[in-house]
Amino acid sequence: MKAYVIAEGQGLDALQLRDRDVPKPGPGEILVRMKASSINYRDFLTINHAAARGITEERIPNSDGAGIVEEVGADVTSYKSGDRVVGCFFQDWVSGPITPKTMASALGGPIDGVLAEYVVFKENGLLPMPGHLSFEEASTLPCAALTAWNCLIEQGNATAGSTALLLGTGGVSVFSLQLAKACGIRAIVTSSSDEKLARVSEMGASEVINYQTTPDWELKVQELTGGRGVDVVVEVGGAGTLAKSVEAVRVGGTISLVGVLTGGKIDPTSIMRKSVRLQGIYVGPQVMFSKLNAALVQNKIHPVIDEVIAFDDARKAYELMQSGAHFGKIVIAMP
Ligand SMILES: NC(=O)c1ccc[n+]([C@@H]2O[C@H](COP(=O)([O-])OP(=O)(O)OC[C@H]3O[C@@H](n4cnc5c(N)ncnc54)[C@H](OP(=O)(O)O)[C@@H]3O)[C@@H](O)[C@H]2O)c1
Repeated sequence: MKAYVIAEGQGLDALQLRDRDVPKPGPGEILVRMKASSINYRDFLTINHAAARGITEERIPNSDGAGIVEEVGADVTSYKSGDRVVGCFFQDWVSGPITPKTMASALGGPIDGVLAEYVVFKENGLLPMPGHLSFEEASTLPCAALTAWNCLIEQGNATAGSTALLLGTGGVSVFSLQLAKACGIRAIVTSSSDEKLARVSEMGASEVINYQTTPDWELKVQELTGGRGVDVVVEVGGAGTLAKSVEAVRVGGTISLVGVLTGGKIDPTSIMRKSVRLQGIYVGPQVMFSKLNAALVQNKIHPVIDEVIAFDDARKAYELMQSGAHFGKIVIAMP
């Protein structure tokens, strides 16, 4: 089979195609013929900085993918050949709090990922695909969509009538907007591009702010919320945007911190003074993924895909992400 690996090389040159044997599923494992894999900013970083992330041997990148069950190993009861499935980001996190053991089971990081024609998953590291989605659409769910759900609904406790601040228009933020709209949550969205802001307005954003032409966007958020601040921020920016997010959130509100897009330093005084709940989030477990999928089915939500790129041209997907021109998700389609 064909599989991409992160090998020696600078930047995206580290992404190389290899011929590998098709893996065999052991007991409790399932062999999947992959049909699509979506990329996340984390996959881009992993390819570019593998050694700094503790990867010392060739590793298959990407956490997110969907496909068709090819073969099941002994003792597998939940799946059969031909089932349409989507992988879980963590192969070893069914429910409960995250642990170092679950963290070590992240696809495309500590263990091989899914940018290959065939992949073996654990029985608890898969879910049936939501029936209304294509393989390309389902492949976008394991990281970005589940992170959005966790940030907004689980840790953010947002419900109908809550107000959320969503930064930018990448994968996590666009899913957050779709979920907010489905749940009756008012969404204020920022972007560097007026064109992208027009798109999020069409999708149901309540208010939009261009964070380049309005660098004091936290003040605008305060103004839009009558000086109260938002209930929850889906913080994809990281250190460079966090201080502004602290200003934009209400007293006692939640910042769901997931991103590392920007660098900077933050004075924590306002976090204390405003009793802000700053919650680090790392994707989510399988049981939470099931709840997300139920919500997607119930609300007939289709992920927003910017572009589908052929497997043989996979490098172009990461180049597109690097350019920042994308809106929503970038997908690689398998032959
Ligand atoms: N902890 C977790 O579980 C988890 C899970 C998923 C993602 N993440 C992290 O979350 C971040 C976003 O991931 P993603 O996959 O959604 O990335 P992505 O699809 O590449 O989206 C990046 C978007 O962020 C926006 N952005 C960049 N700089 C910004 C800034 N200074 N202020 C506001 N928005 C800014 C841009 O939107 P515009 O073009 O509209 O300006 C850009 O398109 C990454 O750091 C990623 O590593 C973490």
